[in-house]
Amino acid sequence: MTQVTASTDVPSLGRRQFMNLLTFGAVTGTALGALYPVVRYFIPPTSGGSGGGAVAKDALGNDIGVKEFLSAHKSGDHVLVQGLKGDPTYLIVDNTSLRDYGLNAVCTHLGCVVPWVASENKFKCPCHGSQYDSTGKVVRGPAPLSLALAHAAVVNNKVEFSPWTEQDFRTGEEPWWT
Ligand code: FES
Repeated sequence: MTQVTASTDVPSLGRRQFMNLLTFGAVTGTALGALYPVVRYFIPPTSGGSGGGAVAKDALGNDIGVKEFLSAHKSGDHVLVQGLKGDPTYLIVDNTSLRDYGLNAVCTHLGCVVPWVASENKFKCPCHGSQYDSTGKVVRGPAPLSLALAHAAVVNNKVEFSPWTEQDFRTGEEPWWT
């Protein structure tokens, strides 16, 4: 009959290795945890991450191709697309290119999406009558503020929106939306 006997050495070696492993894990885990902020500091933000940028998309969620977009629209058009955080945002065609900023279409009164009225060259909110000029500057209340701005840059035939954190060129004031 075979007997299985427990060796006193093997478990203690295993325990020591296990303890070594635990110690190693604790030390390296702590060291890596402490290093994380330092490492993170040197990694540049990505366009879709902490930088807060977004590629403009159409109503179906497809990236907008700038050449195709420009051939389908004429100068002066204000066209709704998906912008930062998916917000409805106007892209504006100037002659044969895109204006370098987009306008958030959310009314600053109570949040209706504001349509562009080409025949009057202004935005007119259907909810309570606020109006904005073609740059999104409020020209009639009750909306208290102009439409929010976002930078719009063409990169590889796509439109990249990024947050507008500088002074609002329409009012000379700091941006209210940041
Ligand atoms: Fe636009 Fe009230 S929500 S005027």
